[in-house]
Amino acid sequence: MVGKDLLISWLNDAYGMENALIQVLEHQVKDAKDYPQEQIKIQEHLEQTRQHAQMVKECVESLGGSTSAMKTGMAKLFGQMQAVSTGAARDEMVKNALADCAAEHFEIASYSALIEAAQAAGEPQVAQVCQRILRDEEEMARWLQQNLPAVVQQTMTQVVKAR
Ligand SMILES: [Fe+2]
Repeated sequence: MVGKDLLISWLNDAYGMENALIQVLEHQVKDAKDYPQEQIKIQEHLEQTRQHAQMVKECVESLGGSTSAMKTGMAKLFGQMQAVSTGAARDEMVKNALADCAAEHFEIASYSALIEAAQAAGEPQVAQVCQRILRDEEEMARWLQQNLPAVVQQTMTQVVKAR
């Protein structure tokens, strides 16, 4: 069935995306060592992201597909974010926050598309799993946006102090 194959292929894209983000977030937890509040939140989202990858994998398998380790376009793009997050720049927390905002909004769009595709393919249980993941991504996107001014202010204070 064509619809089901497409759904499996898009779920695999999401699986690659989540796995790439696990690596990005692992670096960001280290970057946030002087930002305890942010570090807790990033750690929490890292654990959620690991769960998301597992949930997506189970969806693929429930449809009779298998997950591939091959990195798709988007997974590669998120892999690039690591280059930003491992820099020694003092403004890395701001750069990480901007990259995270972009990633979360991409994920929100991806899971919205997957919910639609799962429903169209007659797979309501897959749609339900994607709905649960979508809620976590929306919550993280909101937090990132709300927390951005604090990260900018703290970074600017530190840069001024270091001069
Ligand atoms: Fe995610």
